[in-house]
Amino acid sequence: MTWANLQMIYLLSLLLLRDPAAAANAHRCVSVDELNSRASRFQRNYWDRLGLSGNPLPASRTCAQTAETMLGDLSERALSPWTYRLDQDDNRFPREISFAKCLCQGCIINQRENLSYNSVPIFAHLMILTKTLCPDDPNKYLVKKEKKIVPVACTCAVPNMTK
Ligand SMILES: *[C@@H]1O[C@H](CO)[C@@H](O)[C@H](O)[C@H]1NC(C)=O
Repeated sequence: MTWANLQMIYLLSLLLLRDPAAAANAHRCVSVDELNSRASRFQRNYWDRLGLSGNPLPASRTCAQTAETMLGDLSERALSPWTYRLDQDDNRFPREISFAKCLCQGCIINQRENLSYNSVPIFAHLMILTKTLCPDDPNKYLVKKEKKIVPVACTCAVPNMTK
């Protein structure tokens, strides 16, 4: 995840939320072929550009281990480093999404975790397609475009003192 990726997520979210054609055919049953071509178009035009679905999962590491190196991807150099876990759903496109998970409770200051600060996840509202069997025709699928809230990175913040 780079800053450019985050900007791309934001821009693509705006584009998709304003697409009137997408809303118009949201509740129509489609054949398996049509489902597959719609899903691969969606994957190509949206998810592939986000750079989120193909993230290789990093080897598991702790906050303390990351604090010692602070090298590599932004997720490993951030003061609030994060890792990814794979979220899977067979009735969703994309089937796999990498969810960011903060590695530390505090933030890494001078190579040590400092609990005066908090690592907090940042969420993006991303579009997914879901498929369910068509109620009137078991050979077809109802495809819906939905918003999903996905943790994409972590940031470092001072604790929230407001209640
Ligand atoms: C954590 O950060 C606070 C605020 O900057 C600082 O006063 C404190 O000494 C730090 N604690 C450690 C263990 O480094």
